[in-house]
Amino acid sequence: PAATLTIDPAFTIAPVNRRTFGTFVEHMGRCVYTGIYEPGHATADEDGFRKDVLELTRELGVSVVRYPGGNFVSGYRWEDGVGPREDRPRRLDLAWHSVETNEFGLDEFSRWCAKAGVEPMMAINLGTRGVQEALDLLEYTNHPGGTTLSDLREQHGASPYGIKLWCLGNELDGPWQVGHKTPTEYGRLAAETARAMRMIDRDLQLVACGSSSSKMPLFGTWERDVLRETYEFVEYISCHAYYGNDDGDTASFLASAVDMDHFIESVVATADHVGAELKSSKKIGISFDEWNVWYGERSRRTDGPGDRWEVAPRRIEDEYNVTDAVVVGNLLISLLRHSDRVGVACLAQLANVIAPIMTEPGGAAWRQPTFHPFAITSRLAAGQVLRVETDSPTVTTAKFGEVSAVDAVATYDDGKLAVFAVNRSTEGPIEVTIDVSRSGASTIDEAVIVHDADGLATNSAEQPDRVTPQQADAQLVDGLLTMTLPAISWVALSLS
Ligand code: AHR
Repeated sequence: PAATLTIDPAFTIAPVNRRTFGTFVEHMGRCVYTGIYEPGHATADEDGFRKDVLELTRELGVSVVRYPGGNFVSGYRWEDGVGPREDRPRRLDLAWHSVETNEFGLDEFSRWCAKAGVEPMMAINLGTRGVQEALDLLEYTNHPGGTTLSDLREQHGASPYGIKLWCLGNELDGPWQVGHKTPTEYGRLAAETARAMRMIDRDLQLVACGSSSSKMPLFGTWERDVLRETYEFVEYISCHAYYGNDDGDTASFLASAVDMDHFIESVVATADHVGAELKSSKKIGISFDEWNVWYGERSRRTDGPGDRWEVAPRRIEDEYNVTDAVVVGNLLISLLRHSDRVGVACLAQLANVIAPIMTEPGGAAWRQPTFHPFAITSRLAAGQVLRVETDSPTVTTAKFGEVSAVDAVATYDDGKLAVFAVNRSTEGPIEVTIDVSRSGASTIDEAVIVHDADGLATNSAEQPDRVTPQQADAQLVDGLLTMTLPAISWVALSLS
């Protein structure tokens, strides 16, 4: 089988948005404790941050980090996590059935962001709390001084954090959420919280909660009703999606990006419908602030018994394989392809909890296979995102019908072309010809592939580099690039 891709710098979608390369740090399992933070670890710095994890975070090319949840935020009191450590309370975390020591909080997170070189994206609690607590938090983080809360921050040794990007709660459509709400209850609360927050800072960028997945019973209705209340006050509506292969239907799993495409386009259509109703020319963007591969089955194996309340127990520490990495690479292709509307995206999460970076307490840190497509895409994507005209054989999937076996997106920046492509077929290789003649490219600067003869190969503390990107074999002659994409593979090319 053969596929032809045609690329033209005129096929622009939108500029590459750096915030597409976000991740997520939740107070959940070992993401914070023994993940990014472990005083006493051999690599810990003066703040107790693991330098090995900081280094991997930089290598991952992360732009923005959402914090502190997730489900956790819906029962969280931000004040618990600031000030002298010895005074911080221990609390029950109902979301993850564990004990939160509050040893790490807002001030530590802000310092960690500065060291990692990432922008913070702060989520507020609209589960058990409301407008006043959101305003207090904003005053603490952003107000320059001369008020009780901003002076308190100064006493804690910090200048204003200037946080611009805020999530108005988390997954409040989900009955598992502490403080779960109807669309109208949530929409009203989000609108009034946003309106008041803007009285402190007009330039905030605010995200209203969309559905917690496109499979939720209210999906579509929730977005419509929430946006009817919040349209004029927010910039984004959130999307969350996790894909797994628990039922062993690998063909459908490999086509997960088809579902992500459809999900994004459905939410955009819903938002534009509300815009039409309101006779507004404003466009609402998508904050895809939780996405990843997540296996329910594998997760259960690492969950502790529900009757214990532990500090930083192991929770959903999925071990990813090469096939998962190809899916993650393809989901990034989908996100980039929608750069005209996707303004923020966060791979959930960063360390240990369904994460690209794994650690052992007191031990090593290593990259999961999914780390690689993310890091490479973040490093190479620049300039304008280009639509790729694709003529490909198809694969038949139980969940999505006939889908294109090859999927691709490109970026173009001042003579530099980057192409990201996958072969989603489990059957065999595809000969790919990419017409790059209109870009003027004549040299292959980099060609890397994520693939393994064993699609289930993984990395571990003992074998951290069992799965790494390999150099790919590609030829470029007279504007035509040719290469073979093996079954279940992801490739990145950089040309000039
Ligand atoms: O990322 C794990 C959890 O998934 C988050 O806490 C929640 O928002 C989602 O359901």
